[in-house]
Amino acid sequence: MSEATGSPSRPSDQAGEMLWGFWYPALRSEQLYGRKLARTMLLEVPLVVGRDSAGKAFALRDVCPHRAFPLSFGRFDGASVECAYHGWQFDAHTGQCRHIPSLTADSKLKCERIYAGSFPCEERDGYIWAFMTNPEGRAAVAGDPPPPPVPELPTFSPRYQTAQLWADLPCSVDHGIIGLMDPAHGPFVHQAWWWRTRRSIRDKAKQFEPIPDGFRMSPHAPSANSAPYKILKLITGEPATTTIDFVLPNQRFEQIRAGRYWLSSRTTVTPIKRDLCRLDFIAAWNILPWFPVVSFILHVLGPRFIRQDTEVIEKQGLGLKYEDRMMLVDDADRQARWYFELKAALLESRRTGEPLRHPMSGPVTLRWRS
Ligand code: FES
Ligand SMILES: [Fe+2]
Repeated sequence: MSEATGSPSRPSDQAGEMLWGFWYPALRSEQLYGRKLARTMLLEVPLVVGRDSAGKAFALRDVCPHRAFPLSFGRFDGASVECAYHGWQFDAHTGQCRHIPSLTADSKLKCERIYAGSFPCEERDGYIWAFMTNPEGRAAVAGDPPPPPVPELPTFSPRYQTAQLWADLPCSVDHGIIGLMDPAHGPFVHQAWWWRTRRSIRDKAKQFEPIPDGFRMSPHAPSANSAPYKILKLITGEPATTTIDFVLPNQRFEQIRAGRYWLSSRTTVTPIKRDLCRLDFIAAWNILPWFPVVSFILHVLGPRFIRQDTEVIEKQGLGLKYEDRMMLVDDADRQARWYFELKAALLESRRTGEPLRHPMSGPVTLRWRS
């Protein structure tokens, strides 16, 4: 399928908008230890994140409701965070004010009615996740639906290894995400003899299908022109298939299966600020644990890939200052178009209360050269 879509276009009014009501990775688990209060930011909300004395993670808006002092400068006793300015204490999980030291015994002020902003928080797959309800961190009220389950990395056997990679991307979340699903930059940005070169550009045809809140590149044999997949075939002796899903707001899942061997990865591009996002990549695999070929690929080649993408995004920023428009051309940019359409459809369905109207009506084959 190839429509002529070569005209400059701004695919939706929502471009650049950050999506509330989703789980986002706030920190990697390893960044948080002991009674430490860690400072971070999601969707332009400053957060203070920690673990209570039972090890359960919490995330509060890092702004004291009294006079906006960052709570992250305060003390934490394993249950409450104490603001360092006037010593107000807040429950680490609910943000409810527990104590105001300046009040006299006969004070009428009900300190339990005061709240610091708080966000549902859970730890999974090596990340501390926060559910970004709204910018203020207002607690859910009776009748609000509970947050959905925290996103989970699919795994397919009881024993496996994992690795995490990450990078800051100095761009809006939209540019970060469409960079993630862009097949046409590979031969130019990620040139390497063992991966692909300009000379290896060839015709591709991939089948896509709609899935809830996203789309799937249907299971297919991985690109024949990339060496890592050739290695995989060599070591497993089985033909590999790969499936790639994109799911709103920001998640790309990729599964490679070859017989009983598998590799499963998830990449998220999380908005930190309007012009900054963070890429988080986690992979799990059970391929030859005694022979660290996958670990080598991920730890040596993965960072190199991410560096190449980061560099491209930094340079792109130089141009975006002058021309914040984009062209989405034909099938190579079709996934980017679906992303913008899905995002617009989600916002529309939230506005109207109607179910999300998926931009794809059924399976589609896209063709491009890369
Ligand atoms: S600003 Fe936090 S207690 Fe006053
Ligand atoms: Fe890339």
